Amino acid sequence: MTFVRACGLSELEEDTPKRVELDGTPVSLVQTGGEVFAIHDICSHANVSLAEGEVDDCHIECWLHGSRFDLRSGKPDALPATRPVPVYPVKIEGDDVLVSLTQES
Ligand code: FES
Repeated sequence: MTFVRACGLSELEEDTPKRVELDGTPVSLVQTGGEVFAIHDICSHANVSLAEGEVDDCHIECWLHGSRFDLRSGKPDALPATRPVPVYPVKIEGDDVLVSLTQES
């Protein structure tokens, strides 16, 4: 599994998604409850950035139609989205947030 630096840990604010591009892949980074999650930044329902949505209870909500995706699994728990969004492994090293795009979990 290859990890690449996505951003600095100090750049993340609690429950405020940050959109980054890693090797051309849009990824939303979310720090919540003392953990950092990386989720693909495009809603599985339509071409909308999840980073513009709200974070609550380890879920990110798509602002357009309200589907909520679990940050741990990428699974939606509210329609209209029915397909999961990829999530990516995260490692923290010092102030570096590292993400692996090579193995989705
Ligand atoms: S675009 Fe995300 S729920 Fe419709």
